[in-house]
Order: sequence, then C-alpha cells, then structure tokens
Amino acid sequence: MPADPYAASGSRWALGAELVYRPIAAALVATSPHSLAGRTVLDAGAGTGAASAALRPRAAEVLAVDLSPAMLAWHASARRRCAVADIRALPLAAASVDDAVAAFVLNHLPDPAAGLSELVRVTRPGGAVLAAVFANESRSAARDRVDAAARAAGWQAPDWYTEMKATTAPILGTADTMAAAARAAGLANVHAEEGQVDVGVTEPAQLVRYRFGHPAFAAWLDAIGAGRAATAAAQAENAVGDSMVPYRPRVVFLRAVTRPVAAARY
Ligand SMILES: C[S@@+](CC[C@H](N)C(=O)[O-])C[C@H]1O[C@@H](n2cnc3c(N)ncnc32)[C@H](O)[C@@H]1O
Repeated sequence: MPADPYAASGSRWALGAELVYRPIAAALVATSPHSLAGRTVLDAGAGTGAASAALRPRAAEVLAVDLSPAMLAWHASARRRCAVADIRALPLAAASVDDAVAAFVLNHLPDPAAGLSELVRVTRPGGAVLAAVFANESRSAARDRVDAAARAAGWQAPDWYTEMKATTAPILGTADTMAAAARAAGLANVHAEEGQVDVGVTEPAQLVRYRFGHPAFAAWLDAIGAGRAATAAAQAENAVGDSMVPYRPRVVFLRAVTRPVAAARY
C-alpha cells in the first residue's frame, strides 16, 4: 500500500468520484437520529468534503480529518477546521465532538473496529455515529465495462486497490458485520441496513467520470497524459453504451449513538 494512495486524487475525486459519493453522504447524514444544528460534527476520512457538504446545510459545525493532505487540501480555505489525522488515533480529547460521520473510510482499515472505537471515544455521550461502506453485494455491469475498457487501454489495477477490495473492504460489507462491529465498539441503538442509493448517475459519461476519479486510476491517467486519458474515457463511455442503467450502488449504512454516561458506568 502506498503511504497515501489518494496523494494525486484531490481534484479528480472532487470533480469525478463525488458524483456518486456526495449523494450517498447526503443520504447518510439524513439518517441522524437528531438535529445536527449547532453541533460539532466530526467528518472522519473527510476526503474532499462530500459529507462535510451535507452537514453544513444542517447548520452543523464541521471538523474534518483525513490521512491524506492532498484530499484535505481541496477547497481548504473553505474548511474552517480540518486536520491530517488517522481515524484510529485522533488528536482529539475524549468526548470532544457532538457527533461523528465516517463515509467510506472504515473500509480502508484492516482493523475497522479500531476506527469505530476511536469515534466512540471522541464523541460525547448520546452523540450519533454514522458510517457508510459499499455492500459486498454491490454490483454494476456498466461499471465493470468501464474497468474492462480501461484495462484494454492499458490500465492495471494497482496492488493496494486489489488487496483492499479483497481484504479490508469486505469486513463491514454486510449489515450484520457492521452492526456487530458497532456493538463491539460499545455503541447503542445500533441500526445497520443495506440499500441501494439513487445517485443520479444516468449517463455513461457521468459513470466514467466517477470511476476515473478513483485513486486506483490516478497513476495510469497521469502516466498516459491528458490526450490519451480523454480517448480512454471516450472508449469507456462507448463500452458502456446501451448497457447504461441508472447507477444505484448498494451501501451499508450504520446509525448508532454513544452510550449515555449513566449507562456507560455499568
Ligand atoms: C473513499 S474516500 C472517502 C472520502 C469522503 N469521505 C467521501 O465520502 O467522499 C476515503 C478517504 O479516507 C481517507 N483515509 C483512508 N484511511 C484513513 C485513515 N486511517 N484515517 C483517516 N483517513 C483515512 C483517505 O485519505 C480518503 O480521503
């Protein structure tokens, strides 16, 4: 695994991948069991700010952390409070935020329980902990065609990505495993469910922009240059062609709360 697989992905993620991640982040934030207005909400693994963008209209005060400086640098001037940090060792005092959101970051961890436990530690009693990862059953023939077209044009999935998809990403990829991890981390009122999200990606060009915005494609796109990258994108769009149906990724959503102080003593 490179030190930071997202190092070259700030703008590509924000302008491409967020086509899919923003609507999912909005759906995740909407599951909060209480109003977030006026509360300090941690956006852990914030990336370029998909969940932060969903939190701001709810009048939450956002604190964004991410391991990748390149991802956090996107629109940094608009992010009043952000820090480079590992979700498993947050530079925050216990019970120092009101709520926590973790959108598509726990899937990066070989030990997602460590990430969840840290969210529990820094969140005040009774605060919400919301998380999302792709479900193990998430499939898309159209998306597979994009990858196949990229492979035909010379792309090879990097080892870190192949390994992540095979090992860490599946750990919380069902409602049952997500719920069990949340309970083991000490969360209460645990509700985990799997569902498809209508992300509004209906055209092959949108699907290719989303997919090519992923860091797994960054080194290849940089190596082939803008001209060949545009040709590869056009080929991928053609490959999707008539197989395009609205992209509806399957996501595991977690909604839970940290235990009230009185209950935590027993
Ligand atoms: C799939 S992106 C999701 C970004 C954003 N939450 C979204 O939904 O668009 C995963 C993000 O998690 C960050 N990340 C990976 N491992 C991390 C860790 N151990 N601690 C903090 N952030 C991490 C990556 O740098 C990346 O920005």
